[in-house]
Amino acid sequence: MNVELNHPEEKRVYALGQKMFFYRGGAYDFACATCHAVDGQRIRLQELPNLLTKQGAQAAYTTWPAYRVSQGEVRSMQHRLYDCLRQQRFPEPAYGSDVITALSLFLARNANGGTYDGPAMKR
Ligand code: HEC
Repeated sequence: MNVELNHPEEKRVYALGQKMFFYRGGAYDFACATCHAVDGQRIRLQELPNLLTKQGAQAAYTTWPAYRVSQGEVRSMQHRLYDCLRQQRFPEPAYGSDVITALSLFLARNANGGTYDGPAMKR
């Protein structure tokens, strides 16, 4: 992973992704950061990656698309983010929406230095 932010548009979209990551709202007042900004946090038995660390972002970003055993389908990062926005009680984003692009760029950049390892298997 070697995502550079040279163009002003790239910087703007990265900043948008970062803002969205910390943006709290919805019925539970959750942000991505509520579930993904602490080490060693989990929901039931599921580990929640800390996506602000290099290690967490690398493990998450480099392994999509993935075959999700629980859904019996190959899913993209976009699907993963849909599912998290649903858990966050946010509205469903439109396919290819700016918010998905911005969050994906934020995660991709945070994963710099990692080795892309997709497609992978997930629960
Ligand atoms: C209510 C808690 C919650 C919120 C809020 C949440 N997520 Fe998640 N997220 C999860 C769970 C649970 C998983 C699945 C973990 C697993 O399968 O081990 C997950 C998985 C992920 C993964 C995949 C990790 C991997 O290793 O494959 C990414 C990327 C991700 N979330 C990003 C986000 C982003 C970006 C947001 C904000 C839009 C967000 N999440 C909001 C609970 C949440």
